[in-house]
Amino acid sequence: MDSHDTSKADGSPDVHSSDYDLSRPITSTSGLRSGLTSYGDAHFSLFLRKVFIKALGYSDSALSLPIIGIINTYSSFNPCHSNVPQLIESVKRGVLASGGLPVDFPTISVHESFSSPTSMYLRNLMSMDTEEMIKAQPVDAVVMIGGCDKTVPAQLMGGISANKPVIPLITGPMIPGSVEGVRVGACTDCRSYWAKYRAGDVDLEDIMSVNEELAPTGGTCGVMGTASTMACVTAALGLLDLRAGATSAAVSSARLRVAEQAGRNAVAMLKMEHSRPQDLLTRESFLNAITVLQAIGGSTNAVVHLMAIINRHPKVAGTIDLSTIDEIGKKTPLLVDLKPSGDNYMTDFHNAGGMLTLMKTLRPLLHLNARTYTGQTLGELLDSSPSKLFPYARQIVRSLEGPLYPNSSLVVLYGNVCPNGAVMKASASKNRKLLQHSGRACVFENSADMARRIDSPDLDVDADSVLVLKSIGPVGNPGMPEAGLIPIPQKLGRQGVTDMLRISDGRMSGTAGGTIILHIAPESADLDSVFGVVETGDRIVCDVENRKLLLDVDEHEISRRIAERKKSAQSVSSSGSREPWVERAHVRGYRGLYEREVNQAHLGCDFGFLTAQGPTISQ
Ligand code: FES
Repeated sequence: MDSHDTSKADGSPDVHSSDYDLSRPITSTSGLRSGLTSYGDAHFSLFLRKVFIKALGYSDSALSLPIIGIINTYSSFNPCHSNVPQLIESVKRGVLASGGLPVDFPTISVHESFSSPTSMYLRNLMSMDTEEMIKAQPVDAVVMIGGCDKTVPAQLMGGISANKPVIPLITGPMIPGSVEGVRVGACTDCRSYWAKYRAGDVDLEDIMSVNEELAPTGGTCGVMGTASTMACVTAALGLLDLRAGATSAAVSSARLRVAEQAGRNAVAMLKMEHSRPQDLLTRESFLNAITVLQAIGGSTNAVVHLMAIINRHPKVAGTIDLSTIDEIGKKTPLLVDLKPSGDNYMTDFHNAGGMLTLMKTLRPLLHLNARTYTGQTLGELLDSSPSKLFPYARQIVRSLEGPLYPNSSLVVLYGNVCPNGAVMKASASKNRKLLQHSGRACVFENSADMARRIDSPDLDVDADSVLVLKSIGPVGNPGMPEAGLIPIPQKLGRQGVTDMLRISDGRMSGTAGGTIILHIAPESADLDSVFGVVETGDRIVCDVENRKLLLDVDEHEISRRIAERKKSAQSVSSSGSREPWVERAHVRGYRGLYEREVNQAHLGCDFGFLTAQGPTISQ
């Protein structure tokens, strides 16, 4: 054997010793040999990498296998991800059984209630973490474990941008609790019980015992909130098992089997054509996702997330916008009877066959040529699935002929007050008369102003008023808080008023309901925003049928108010203004990056430089 002969005794190449053969370049772009750290000497880089990973006990044989990364988003601050350690074990079993080497690694984990100012503020940070760690590390494919509201969007955004094969794995919904024999679950019931407590209908002792039952197990919120919506949307994109991937409970054995299968799928994807997300996901995949979003009465937050995800995809960005969501809505009935639009919980949806039942029902409205993680088209996947409907199915997933709501569960409104759009979950309105309504604005300049005055007996408001909350947009209150569910003023609540037309530039929890218009773009903090100059007493016209939201104020008066506001913002700025739109140029750290780079809600609140189009640098 000469000094360059790295063959084994049987004549086959010895991949382990060839790693040290200086006369042969390292050509492999998979597994441990991919993405080498730069030291100026590739062989040394690989030598060093092996030195360190052997400290963990790996053999050369194990290190020759394709590497499947598993993103570990466990955090003691994230109860929606409490089952991640068990899921990782199950994924590893699937990867090993299929001939891959599983390696888990962490990224940040974001939970709704433990993220200040908001979880949305951190979504883009998590997507950057996800993208860069997938790109930086020697992984051939990645199982991305997420569940809580912002984690799945962040992972899809990062995964598409990194463009290595990825398989999402959802942590799964929690199961419902019980209060005096009535099923309850986070977080639609959190809000309804809190509203009853505020109105004096529930006493202190009862609200304390309700607090014990709203989240009885780990897992994501058990209604069709943002987390469940994003799980269903991910399945509709062709990235999850239709039967159980989106809906099986976090604490179920089915969830562990989904995880094991995700490990197998990740290995199988390595041999598949179109396995990278920028190839696997097409415009049709996203149109299917929007159809499902409308049919489940999904969270308004998902509209923002979908726009951000779409705008990460170089071949789809620019071909779908908010108007596409509205157009698809007009043809799509609301079929899934889950809170907050309906009455049931995610476990009921799962027992009714989950996304498989829904996709079969929606089949005439779907693009069946869309690809899926299996290598089959959606049509082929549905054809090869069991055809029998689950006995319980139609109690939860209505037929196209007998829907819960005829169409347009989510609508997009335009008008002088929202030239780039505003979003409303019409199906969650508790007083449908308000969908065609005009009333006097009762304006709160920001959340603090609202907190100070909303329950004042002197508030100039009646049941026909339109409650307006400004400065909760992406920049105005960084992170665009879920404060769009403006509470009913206490004096009206005590008169039995349960719903009013409410508008803001903020978001609302997917678990909430009411006649609420959100995501007004451009936001009020933008000094050119018409929404920013709405005043108490102005008339606001909401015409959902014609998709209009108008400020009924003379154009010249609107221009005068905008000019005056700009003048005062600039003059105050030179003496130390707190106008976020002006001051953001000087803010340090991640907050400064966020405020300068975040785009508006209709584009997804992503950072401009992360979108497929990338940054726009003026010369
Ligand atoms: Fe995590 Fe609701 S708080 S899904």
